[in-house]
Amino acid sequence: MHSVQPRPASFRSQGPLRGTVKVPGDKSISHRSLMLSALAVGESRISGLLEGEDVLATAAAMRAMGAHIERTGEGCWTVHGVGVGGLMQPASALDMGNSGTSTRLLMGLVASHALTATFIGDASLSKRPMGRVINPLSQMGAEFTASPGGTLPLMVRGLVPAVPIRYHLPVASAQVKSAVLLAGLNTPGITEVIEPVPTRDHSERMLRGFGADLTVEIDADGVRHIRLVGEAELKPQTIDVPGDPSSAAFPIVAALITPGSEVTVTHVGMNPTRTGIFKMLEAMGADLTYANEREVGGEPVADITARHSLLRGIEVPPDIAPSMIDEFPVFFVAASTAQGQTITSGLDELRVKESDRLALMATGLKAIGAQVEEREDGLVIQGTGGEPLEGGATINSALDHRIAMSFAVAGQHCYHPVTVDDVSPIATSFPTFEAMMHNLQETH
Ligand code: S3P
Repeated sequence: MHSVQPRPASFRSQGPLRGTVKVPGDKSISHRSLMLSALAVGESRISGLLEGEDVLATAAAMRAMGAHIERTGEGCWTVHGVGVGGLMQPASALDMGNSGTSTRLLMGLVASHALTATFIGDASLSKRPMGRVINPLSQMGAEFTASPGGTLPLMVRGLVPAVPIRYHLPVASAQVKSAVLLAGLNTPGITEVIEPVPTRDHSERMLRGFGADLTVEIDADGVRHIRLVGEAELKPQTIDVPGDPSSAAFPIVAALITPGSEVTVTHVGMNPTRTGIFKMLEAMGADLTYANEREVGGEPVADITARHSLLRGIEVPPDIAPSMIDEFPVFFVAASTAQGQTITSGLDELRVKESDRLALMATGLKAIGAQVEEREDGLVIQGTGGEPLEGGATINSALDHRIAMSFAVAGQHCYHPVTVDDVSPIATSFPTFEAMMHNLQETH
C-alpha cells in the first residue's frame, strides 16, 4: 500500500500538451478479471491488467483465499482458479487498502462461501459505508460484525448454501449490484438484481464471458432485471483489459483546457455505461475525435484525440451521473475554465467516494481562484471563459487519487503552480500518471 509519508508535488503551466499516450488498464475490469479467473477451474490469462494498489489488493486477497496468481510480464498475469465454491479460509485479515471496489465485491464472494473473513482498510476506506452491501448479503444469509456506522474493520461469515434473493437496488451502484451477483454465483437458484438506473455493466459482460447463465431483461419502464443462475461453473478465459476511460479523462481534460494542446489516448474503453464524461465534454464544445473503434474482450475500445477547445458551461442532466461518476472531479476542473455557468445536481454519491468529492473539489477549486457554489448534491461553477485560474495554493487531497490528479490537471492552466499535499494515492489507480504528464510536456 502507498507510503504513510505524504509526498507533496507541484504542477505548473508549461505550455501545450502534445503526444500520444496509453493509460493503464481499466480498474473495474481488472478487479473483476482477477476475481472471476480465481473462481474458474483452470488457467486464465490476463493482459493489460492495471497494476495499481487497488487491484493488487484484490490479487492478494484472492491468493489468500486459495487462487494461484502469478505476474508473468508487464500487465500480464496468469490465474489458476479454485472453482465457484472453492475459496478457502484466509489465514489473516484481508487488507483492502484504499479500494472500495475490492471490499464490496469480495464481501459478496465471501458471503456465499464457507469461510469467515475480516476486511481492513486505510483511513479513507474505513469511513466509507458498507451497509449498502451488508443489507442484501445479510438477506442471503451471511453474518456481519461491522464497526459503528457499518464501516471497516468488519467481519463476514459466509453461508453455504446461501439464499437466492430478488434485490431492488436502492442506490445506483455497480459495486452493490456486483456484490449481490458475485454472491449469487455460489448460491442455488436464481439471484436477481433490479436496477432502475443503469450502472457500469462489466460484471454482467464478464460473467457471461466466463460462461455463467446470466440474462438481462429491460422491462416496459426501462428497468433492468439481471438474473443469474447460481452454482455456476466458470470456464477460464483470456482477457485483454482495455485502457481505463476514468484515467483517460485526466490527459483529455488537460489537453482541452491548455491552449495549443493536442493529445491522443489510445486503447480507451468505450463501454456506454462509462462514457458520460466524453458526451458532456462534447456538449460543452470539446473537440474530441474517435479513431480505430473496435471490440476487445467483449468491450468497445477506441483511440481518442482531444484538442484545446473553448468550453461552454452546461447543465448536466442528473441521470447521466452513473456513467461518469468517477469523472466529476476532473469535469469540475474543465467547468472552472469554461465560458459561463455549469450546473450539476443529483451527485450525493460523490460525498461517499474515496473522499467527500463535492466538498474537497469546491474547497480546492475556490483556493485556486475558481468561482464555485457548493450545494448539497452538486456544484455550480462559473467559468473563467478560457482564462487561466489563479493557482498558487496547496490542495488537501485526503487520500483520494482522483482529487490529486484533478488538481494536477488544473495546474496546467493556472498563473501560479498548484501544490497537491500528497500525490502518493495516485498509485491506487494510475501509477504512471506523473510520468505521462511529464512526457506530454516534453515531446515538443
Ligand atoms: C465501481 C463502481 C463505482 C465507481 C468505482 C468503481 C465498480 O462505484 O465509483 O470507482 O468497479 O463497480 P459505485 O458502484 O459505488 O458507484
